[in-house]
Amino acid sequence: MASQILVCLLFVAAMSVAVHCNSEGDALNAWRAQLMDPNNVLHSWDPTLVNPCTWFHVACNSENSVIRVHLGNANLSGPLVPELGQLANLQYLEVSDNNLSGSIPTEIGNLTSLVSLNLQHNQLTGPIPSSLGNLVSLSFLKLNGNKLSGVIPPYLFLLIQRGNLIVMNVSDNMFAGTVHRTNLTVTTIIQDPRAS
Ligand SMILES: *[C@@H]1O[C@H](CO)[C@@H](O)[C@H](O)[C@H]1NC(C)=O
Ligand SMILES: *[C@@H]1O[C@H](CO)[C@@H](O)[C@H](O)[C@H]1NC(C)=O
Ligand SMILES: *[C@@H]1O[C@H](CO)[C@@H](O)[C@H](O)[C@H]1NC(C)=O
Ligand SMILES: *[C@@H]1O[C@H](CO)[C@@H](O)[C@H](O)[C@H]1NC(C)=O
Ligand SMILES: *[C@@H]1O[C@H](CO)[C@@H](O)[C@H](O)[C@H]1NC(C)=O
Repeated sequence: MASQILVCLLFVAAMSVAVHCNSEGDALNAWRAQLMDPNNVLHSWDPTLVNPCTWFHVACNSENSVIRVHLGNANLSGPLVPELGQLANLQYLEVSDNNLSGSIPTEIGNLTSLVSLNLQHNQLTGPIPSSLGNLVSLSFLKLNGNKLSGVIPPYLFLLIQRGNLIVMNVSDNMFAGTVHRTNLTVTTIIQDPRAS
């Protein structure tokens, strides 16, 4: 292990560029450590590999940086972790139809390449972090079917008006506010016209 780190440090020194040293694998592994995975869908997530690009349910770009995590309907329990915010090039985070609990980490708002955030049908609680308003590339936001509360951050509506957001489903949660409750479908669900 020590020699592995040394090699990595030498490599960084030699290249004088920001080399990942599997920091993305470490971030995913930090998440795995918090998850219950009774079906063993994460068995291929070997933290000793040089990067996570060969792990099942993970895809990378040509620079070996993670761009997709697909773990829908995988019977996973546990939280989302702040370390997910370190996946700088992540475009698709698809973790629908599991048993995820706890709140959505503020750090998800660091994922400015994110195109799709699909957390529908879990047990997530707490507010939608306003940091999600930073997700300028986001086109699909599916948070429906959780136990999220609070108000829907106004910045998300700006992403619809001025950004790329075309589908936002936040229905079937516990949000407060008369507007959202009485006219949920009109104000908060935008259906992609291309999907229908
Ligand atoms: C999901 O995991 C639970 C154990 O936590 C198990 O009882 C159940 O059968 C699993 N469901 C599926 C669809 O694999
Ligand atoms: C769902 O997650 C909760 C909290 O982590 C856990 O107690 C429960 O057993 C999980 N249920 C299933 C069906 O996996
Ligand atoms: C990630 O997000 C957190 C909380 O929003 C912020 O404090 C932190 O500076 C961000 N980190 C990076 C590297 O952008
Ligand atoms: C939005 O979510 C609700 C609840 O999960 C679901 O019934 C509905 O079909 C979804 N709407 C769209 C347009 O996807
Ligand atoms: C909800 O939206 C519909 C369609 O735009 C509109 O006719 C209705 O008056 C709205 N209801 C409320 C309570 O704002």
